[in-house]
Amino acid sequence: MLNCDIVRTRLKTMILGRNLYCFQIIDSTNAHLLDLARDGAPEGTVVLSEFQTAGRGRKERRWFSSKGKNLLLSILLRPELEIEYAQKITLASAIILANTIDQYLKSKNLPPVDIRFKWPNDLLVNNRKLSGILAESILQDKKIVALVLGVGINLNEMPEERDPAIRERAVSLKELTGADIDREDFLCLFLENFEKDYERFERTLYRQVIEEWKRRCNQFGQKVLLETPFGEQEAIVRDINDSGFLVYEDMAGKLHALVTGEIISGHKDASGF
Ligand code: BTN
Repeated sequence: MLNCDIVRTRLKTMILGRNLYCFQIIDSTNAHLLDLARDGAPEGTVVLSEFQTAGRGRKERRWFSSKGKNLLLSILLRPELEIEYAQKITLASAIILANTIDQYLKSKNLPPVDIRFKWPNDLLVNNRKLSGILAESILQDKKIVALVLGVGINLNEMPEERDPAIRERAVSLKELTGADIDREDFLCLFLENFEKDYERFERTLYRQVIEEWKRRCNQFGQKVLLETPFGEQEAIVRDINDSGFLVYEDMAGKLHALVTGEIISGHKDASGF
């Protein structure tokens, strides 16, 4: 089981995770943290759980994760920015997570893995999902009062332990590297990196975010199936614009920016999550 006392002792952050709630079982860490945020919880509050009975993913999908194997956490941010920034913060968190994975593997002398981003915020390895991020916000006058970033990271779960619904489509770091991942170490590293990089990105007004994000995305120029507010559409992925929206070309050659939606399939063997 994840030892939260160890996390509290090892964690070298100033704010992030200083207010830490650990559960064995909960409906959803995001749902719980949104409630705490409404009750005035401070920025940097983190909720962790070993299991979720109603873990949620994007587009009202479920997030499955077997008990005590992975990391399920939510982070509370209070950025005092317009809602447009939510997308950039979400992209930034994917970058921080991917860099943390690289750094963790290196620090343990484990082989590197090739993490690729699928817009808006999936981390994939060999087209299988290693992690998903769900941002949910509370708004007031178009400003973000609270932004809850929910992160599910597959660390030690093996295929036979996985829910059959996602057995083939997900992958864990243990499967990829053959090594047990120290969840306390990984979590501390992630929260420490998050605190540092979040500030760095804020200082540059997120200018670096889009560039860094694009470096891990190899879907540009690819023909994909997109889910848009107007239905499914074939498109070619062209770019990510300065707001973090997906720029795609429709079959008539016209460019559009997709604010909400997602890439349902990319490569011929890609599966929509
Ligand atoms: C997605 O890929 O669709 C996003 C998945 C996000 C899952 C995490 S697990 C921790 C947090 N609590 C939730 O209920 N969801 C997020």
